[in-house]
Amino acid sequence: MEKIKSIIFILLIIVGFFLAGCNSSETEKHTQSVVTENHSEMKMMHNHMVNDDRISLHLSQKKAQHQLMNMRNHLKAVQSIIDYLAKNNFDSASMVASSKLGLTNEMKMMCSSFGNKEFERLGLGFHKSADRMSEIIKTKDKTKSFEALSSTLNYCVTCHSTFKQ
Ligand code: HEC
Repeated sequence: MEKIKSIIFILLIIVGFFLAGCNSSETEKHTQSVVTENHSEMKMMHNHMVNDDRISLHLSQKKAQHQLMNMRNHLKAVQSIIDYLAKNNFDSASMVASSKLGLTNEMKMMCSSFGNKEFERLGLGFHKSADRMSEIIKTKDKTKSFEALSSTLNYCVTCHSTFKQ
């Protein structure tokens, strides 16, 4: 009788270990799948960064420098438009929109000198949208002004995701 009791006791311990083992391997599996998920997310981000499929404009060094300078000025203009709109200074915001981002002869020539029709179309569309924004800002309607700024910024975003130097 004592013998049977101790055999049952040992069996229970073995079953206990077995169940505990199952449990821990479940946790392991879960941890592993979380790790794999994070890993594949990182891989996707990595691929996105490495597989740069934007169209290259093949710009010369000099032209590239000039373009980046224009671009930094564009960003500066956007910042000052937002700043003026926040202070309800519509006249200044409108002036910056047309004088710094609007379509001038210089910008027209610049946009068409890259030898790419789609780039030219986006560039001219961008400068024309800034002239429209300048007119809309003159109405002193803040909501419409921000909507117009957003449409202009849409050109920045589209062009940047399509082209590189
Ligand atoms: C028609 C195309 C086009 C439009 C529109 C455009 N950009 Fe760019 N921008 C470029 C290209 C091409 C580059 C170079 C990107 C590269 O080679 O990785 C660039 C680069 C830049 C840079 C990097 C400058 C540097 O010194 O590295 C900034 C900032 C920038 N653009 C701001 C803007 C802003 C702000 C707007 C809109 C208000 C805008 N751009 C509109 C084509 C465009």
